[in-house]
Amino acid sequence: MTTFTEQTRERAREIVARYPADRSRSALLPLLHLVQSEEGYVSPAGVEFCAEVLGLNKAQVGAVATFYTMYKRRPTGDYLVSVCTNTMCNVLGGQEVYDTLAEHLGVGHDETTADGKVTLEHAECLAACDYGPVMTVNYDFFDGVDPQTALGVVEELRSGGRPMPTRGARLCTLKEMAVQLAGFADEREGAVADGGPGEPSLRGLRLAEQHGISVPGYDPNTPIRSKAEADAAAARAKAAEQAKPAPAVKPEPAVKPEPAAGAEAPGTRIPADPTPPAPRDAQEAEAAGVAANAPAGDRKPAGDEAGAQERSLKEAEASAGARSALAGPSRPREERAERAPQSRAENRAVASEGGTQK
Ligand code: FES
Repeated sequence: MTTFTEQTRERAREIVARYPADRSRSALLPLLHLVQSEEGYVSPAGVEFCAEVLGLNKAQVGAVATFYTMYKRRPTGDYLVSVCTNTMCNVLGGQEVYDTLAEHLGVGHDETTADGKVTLEHAECLAACDYGPVMTVNYDFFDGVDPQTALGVVEELRSGGRPMPTRGARLCTLKEMAVQLAGFADEREGAVADGGPGEPSLRGLRLAEQHGISVPGYDPNTPIRSKAEADAAAARAKAAEQAKPAPAVKPEPAVKPEPAAGAEAPGTRIPADPTPPAPRDAQEAEAAGVAANAPAGDRKPAGDEAGAQERSLKEAEASAGARSALAGPSRPREERAERAPQSRAENRAVASEGGTQK
């Protein structure tokens, strides 16, 4: 069983501290990336670690970890090569790229080469259809690949190189990527990419320009401000708002007009319950919700209490045994078929004779 390093534990505390105290379970996704950054996948020990840190049970953590494909459930190579075989990339040759890599590496979907370098997977739309066929290595893009360029990339990876993606930052290992996905900056030089959008993404804009199509009121030369500029502009707007003179207060009439007998003057209704409901904190509200909604299942805990599965199995076997004892010795299927009434009319006849069939 893995013992996570002190650095991982410290980072786990930092992640949890990013969320409100009664919402700590929201930290589960980055925590799963964090444990993956240490082991290369989400192991049973990683699931247990997350459960412990967040006060959840292992079934709850496992349900999340198995839902998202970015959490790997078995040891993964240094480089996760994902080839898009979805519709757009497929018609452009994505399947051919995948098949070529699978044959060359001798692995199938979600399998890792013997040297532990490359895990291959086919992916469902990597959100870069305009660059298809695409593949990613640890989520960085290689656009417009064909079987030969894809082979070149994986061979360079296996020989220790780090080919430059078409867009995005420099390649890192899957563990290093998991640290970033957990929300920690990658300090390597060139780790953060810059650069504008590529021509395929701008194709629509170019066509609009070419045909004189524009959105009314939109100035295409509107400068894109940096965050510092945007913050400064927001601060100036706020200061200007505060500097505005307060609106003049209307003087109250000296004598309020009396409402007609029996009539209710507007704004004079006294609320039936003048005390606003006390705010309940989220945990209290959740507990109330749980109490008001009986579990739909067999009331067994969803968790991982020691021996729970074994006990459930024994209970199931015991109740199956009791049912078969009540039913008496079993008869061969043919015999049961022979004796079974064939229609509702026969059923009724059996019932009226005092039989037990219904
Ligand atoms: S279909 Fe391949 S990126 Fe969308």
